[in-house]
Amino acid sequence: MAIPQSFIDELIARADVVEIVGRYVQLKKTGANFQGLCPFHAEKSPSFTVSPTKQFYHCFGCGQNGNAIRFLMEHAGMGFPEAVKDLAGQYGMQVPDEDVSPAERVRQQEQKKKQATLTDVLEKAGTAYRKHLRSSPKAVAYFKKRGVSGEVAKAFGLGYAPEGWRSLASVFPAYDDPLLAESGLVIVNEEDGKRYDRFRDRVMFPIRNVKGECIGFGGRVLGDDKPKYLNSPETPVFSKGRELYGLFEARNAIRDAGYVLVTEGYMDVVALAQLGFPQAVATLGTACTGEHIQKLFRFTDNVVFSFDGDAAGRRAARKALDGALPYATDVRNVKFLFLPSEHDPDSFIREHGGDAFARYVGDATPLSRFLVESSRDGCDLSTAEGRAHMAANAKPLWTQLPDGALKRQLLTEIAELAQLPAAELGELWQERGSGKGRSARPDGSHRSDDAYGDGDWPDASYHVESDAGGGSWHEPSPQRRQGGGGGKRRWKGRRDEAPPPRMQGRGVPVNRATRALQILFAEPAAWDRLSNDEHHLLCELPEPHGPLFTWLDSQHHDHGPQPWEVLQEALQGHGFEQVVRQELAKVPAGVDSDPAELADILAKEKQSRREDEMKRLAAAATTDPAAFARYKALLEQQKPGPKP
Ligand code: UTP
Ligand code: MN
Repeated sequence: MAIPQSFIDELIARADVVEIVGRYVQLKKTGANFQGLCPFHAEKSPSFTVSPTKQFYHCFGCGQNGNAIRFLMEHAGMGFPEAVKDLAGQYGMQVPDEDVSPAERVRQQEQKKKQATLTDVLEKAGTAYRKHLRSSPKAVAYFKKRGVSGEVAKAFGLGYAPEGWRSLASVFPAYDDPLLAESGLVIVNEEDGKRYDRFRDRVMFPIRNVKGECIGFGGRVLGDDKPKYLNSPETPVFSKGRELYGLFEARNAIRDAGYVLVTEGYMDVVALAQLGFPQAVATLGTACTGEHIQKLFRFTDNVVFSFDGDAAGRRAARKALDGALPYATDVRNVKFLFLPSEHDPDSFIREHGGDAFARYVGDATPLSRFLVESSRDGCDLSTAEGRAHMAANAKPLWTQLPDGALKRQLLTEIAELAQLPAAELGELWQERGSGKGRSARPDGSHRSDDAYGDGDWPDASYHVESDAGGGSWHEPSPQRRQGGGGGKRRWKGRRDEAPPPRMQGRGVPVNRATRALQILFAEPAAWDRLSNDEHHLLCELPEPHGPLFTWLDSQHHDHGPQPWEVLQEALQGHGFEQVVRQELAKVPAGVDSDPAELADILAKEKQSRREDEMKRLAAAATTDPAAFARYKALLEQQKPGPKP
């Protein structure tokens, strides 16, 4: 009956104690912590504090303290399993089956042990790289040339991976220990099984998680070779889409400064720290994700993104905007800083100094303005068409904002630009899908993993658009169609085709192919659990879905299951990128993968194909004995299967 510890750990990591306590207690930010009147004893002046960094509450009056789960138990009077369930529900997590098999339990424990071992291995390598730096004049010279002081090098644990294919063998005598490959330090050649160091002749930047454990590395060439930076691969302890370089090192400075600076590069973080901005972190060569942003908001309410002023920088800023919007509640402040186009923070601060950089921070563009500016980009506001286009650009951005004063003010602002009364624009935008289901929860929070409110499912049917955009899953048989006249037609699902429970309330109808795609992209590992036949079934679907599944299949062949962040990167610049985005955008950010739902979708598709084939066979069966035999076989299969 015990809930696996690994799940509880993950839940605690995801939950935000400030948010949970804040639902019951009015909290006010005071320095690094939040304060309020203790809910556990009567008091007139607040002695109850909640620490976002420690994820802990404590009352100096009555001594009550604990984490988010404890709070729900103590305050809301829930039992432990109930509190876990409740909390999990709030963060869109599914409490694992309470009666997990002993084998599964063992597997989970082993995975945990493995993670601890991996960070140990990485730490040991980091120590060796640091030592090598001290004895490598050329690596030291490189850092010196870039202006890095010994003090900052030490603070960040910078190192050097020497030349040679197996330098790590001196650190790890058991060089063929699978852990070395698993940690990403050693590469195993697929053809001959030979092993060699991933990082050779590079200056090394250890990447730490918020607990300070070493989870990976970035390594830079000393010259102009390519690739300039090599990063640790995705491992059980390292995911680029989740981790931020320098967060551990910056955590105190972020609190002191009251904001975090988000940059794009390792060297930016190091240079900024050295020249007076130790509150900087960097994404690891990926776009800033919602998960990154959520993590940052655990440390501060104020985030300043820094980008180069060139086109690439603006694109990156747009992505960060998308990631930040769902979290931009009224108490938070997100800004965008654009440096002159030839500069990144490292080169800028070294050339112009800290004061000049501070001015850029001071002048950074607030999220609201950036949203409006991005929306009107390229639109001629002197024409009705241009204004309408601007509004169309703004809508998907505005929709993602959690409800609050900021959102409402922006509606007014956009409406003014569009030359429409705000109420009218609001009405226009609420019409389909963008209403309550999509915006954040009433308490102002919104997380990518539980984006679904409790709105009503519009109707127990899948909507199928006949134009290419909608991409029908399977041409509906004529008798299923309703009002098939115009461009758009709907087909009423049968009652037993009611949307699966998890979809309820999304308010965005999607067809089965889209739904399958959403599920499989939400949890790419699910692909491996499907049979070969099922893979074929999906790959044979009409465009755009079939080719997308084929692409996913090839990704699996080449790399094994990869997290969504990695797939997303692989998709970049690929012709499919847009399609995937569109498909995924048909529900609010964050789709849960539900194996039961996927199985159900596949069963229905199989059934529907069988029906089609039987229809064809029935016509041929009178003259063709083979067709008749096949027809009979299908009829047989039909019996135990799901009824149409
Ligand atoms: P940049 O190309 O802007 O490099 O990449 P940089 O940070 O200015 O590096 P320096 O100043 O030349 O040393 C920004 C970030 O993108 C990732 C790294 O995280 C880098 O810091 N990146 C870049 C890679 O992962 N691989 C690469 O080959 C290049
Ligand atoms: Mn640089």
